[in-house]
Amino acid sequence: MDVLRASVDDMVKDKVVVITGAGGGIGRDFALAFAAHGARVVVNDLGTTVTGEGASAHPAQNVVDEIRAKGGEAVASTESVADWEAANRIVKTAIDAFGHLDCVVNNAGILRDRFFFNMSVEEWRAVIDVHLNGAFYVSRAAAPYFKSQNSGSYVHMTSTSGLIGNLGQANYSAAKLGIVGLSKSIALDMARHGVRSNCIAPFAWSRMIGSIPTDTPEQRARVERMKVMETAKIAPLAVYLASPAAEGVSGQIFAVRANELFLMSQSRPVRSVHRAGGWTPEGIAAHGMPALRQGFFPLDRTQDVFTWDPL
Ligand code: NAI
Repeated sequence: MDVLRASVDDMVKDKVVVITGAGGGIGRDFALAFAAHGARVVVNDLGTTVTGEGASAHPAQNVVDEIRAKGGEAVASTESVADWEAANRIVKTAIDAFGHLDCVVNNAGILRDRFFFNMSVEEWRAVIDVHLNGAFYVSRAAAPYFKSQNSGSYVHMTSTSGLIGNLGQANYSAAKLGIVGLSKSIALDMARHGVRSNCIAPFAWSRMIGSIPTDTPEQRARVERMKVMETAKIAPLAVYLASPAAEGVSGQIFAVRANELFLMSQSRPVRSVHRAGGWTPEGIAAHGMPALRQGFFPLDRTQDVFTWDPL
């Protein structure tokens, strides 16, 4: 155990990491785990509600205090990721405090759930701004540092809401699948500079999923089972992905649920049909679509695919 711990400690020792949304939930456990494994941490958090209303400096500062009390190194940043200038200041906080930057964890997030037919433009924009634009802004602000030092690791939080599907989350699903495209593009564009980029789809019992109704005994039992999905269980993978041990691991999508780790698939052709001379709409109806239909995906939501309780 000591040997394992020592080697893990070396993995991110003296690495500098920016973690967004690190004042609570999954991000707070990222910050604590990175610090416990020797990294110096910028704890960024706007201190806002699940829906992104209001701001407070306390969540970020509390996590910084917690890390320092245990002998770790951390500084707070209370800026919003959803603003390009602020994102640059978040990255600059790392450079000013610690001299360089090795890893960005794009974790900040909000929810504005609503069925698509009722979703307002404001609800759409707010979620895209924090998740997709925020991930781009902070990643882009860090890119010149990563490029010039020929190293760096991005870890982005995606979601099975985007990868698989969920009701009432068009804004969130689109943002989270957009982040997958962003991560893959960063991985491709920055491979020549020794920079890696990966996604994690977490399953964790945080305030973000804590609003699930508990009106019936079945619902209460389901929520009890979900509580084993501790937020701290996501952190080891993020720490690993930031470390040199993850060399060659880039452009991937992982999922973590309690003690289970998953490698998620990526889109590839599953079936094809060909017709010499080209297709007509009638030909597609008569031959093309019946053949392709064999490979259709059902209208699954996450729970239709992850059908077993977390382990
Ligand atoms: P959380 O609500 O506990 O934490 C999110 C944090 O982000 C909060 O502390 C909030 O203040 C901060 N934040 C929000 N807007 C911000 C902004 N503009 N700038 C800086 N900070 C901001 O949520 P949780 O569950 O810890 O989520 C973390 C990430 O994991 C999110 O990206 C979420 O979408 C993702 N995720 C979580 C899942 C879960 O099961 N909890 C499932 C799938 C994805």
